[in-house]
Amino acid sequence: MSKIMDYEAVRKDIAAALKKPDYDDGSLGPVFVRLAWHSSGTYDLESDTGGSNGAGMRYEAEGGDPANAGLQHGRAFLEPIKEKHPWITYSDLWTLAGVVAIKAMGGPDIPWQGGRTDMVDDSKVPPRGRLPDGTQGADHLRFIFYRMGFNDQEIVALTGGHNLGRCHGDRSGFEGPWVTNPTRFSNSFFKLLLELDWKPRKLATGMTQFVYEDPDAEEDEEPLMMLPTDMALKTDPSFAPWVEKYAKDKDLFFDHFSKVFAKLIELGIQRDAQGTITNTDNKMGGYTSAPKKSNVATGPSKSKGEPRARL
Ligand code: HEM
Repeated sequence: MSKIMDYEAVRKDIAAALKKPDYDDGSLGPVFVRLAWHSSGTYDLESDTGGSNGAGMRYEAEGGDPANAGLQHGRAFLEPIKEKHPWITYSDLWTLAGVVAIKAMGGPDIPWQGGRTDMVDDSKVPPRGRLPDGTQGADHLRFIFYRMGFNDQEIVALTGGHNLGRCHGDRSGFEGPWVTNPTRFSNSFFKLLLELDWKPRKLATGMTQFVYEDPDAEEDEEPLMMLPTDMALKTDPSFAPWVEKYAKDKDLFFDHFSKVFAKLIELGIQRDAQGTITNTDNKMGGYTSAPKKSNVATGPSKSKGEPRARL
């Protein structure tokens, strides 16, 4: 066990756990990034609810949201680290894992501060439906991200997260990676979005995504894909200039991505000059964390029954 607040020790263990040859493209990095983003992306500025503080995905109400399908694997992969550093809260661990993964995959340094606390029951879990739906367009993206307090430039920068990882038919119904090297953070997503000829394709899952049919591809090569929401970035007159800028200038994208991801994982958190969170419900003060749940990944369900604790 590490010393309380030895975040450096946790960072090292997360980085060491990323390589996983038999999982997806060989890295847990992308699913950790998505976990950090979905734990934060429930924030609602107006009611000041949701956000990363609380780790509500441990409860059925949030963890069982179909929008979070697949993230149970990310949470389960982090359990051995929680076990080794039981003092860290899930909410800190999940956001830190995203930040460490981005850096380890070649991305920018992202400022991160600890001190989030875990909810002790599911009474403050935000309602479902706050995360984006990939089948939609620009209006939907604005509806979702303006609610969190982001502007058009920040929406485009954040969606650059799709330089990493892939879609899974059994999780979202979409399939395939966005870029040819989905475990290396870069601005390829924006370049490919602009350069390739994307054609709609209806999948066996019933979802329609955009694919690039490479005429020179090997027979078993997986086509690259874009979500309808990704395509909206290049057709919308206010999003498109940012896609073009980020495609041309990797350093600009890295700089903006770092700032906007740091903002994302701090949504709903107020700190004093020392960095201590001042708007936590936890009257015990910071750094109490929920107990470990289980090492088993439990998938989302649509059942509304009794709130079940989950990873
Ligand atoms: C703009 C609205 C967004 C929509 C509609 C969206 C939708 C999706 C969908 C449908 C998947 C596939 C899930 C699966 O089947 O496993 C996915 C994966 C992913 N998303 Fe997004 N996303 C959005 C924004 C973001 C943002 C802001 C980030 C991070 C900054 C992000 C990072 C990722 C990553 C890393 C994956 C790959 C996960 C994996 O490989 O397991 N996405 N997203």
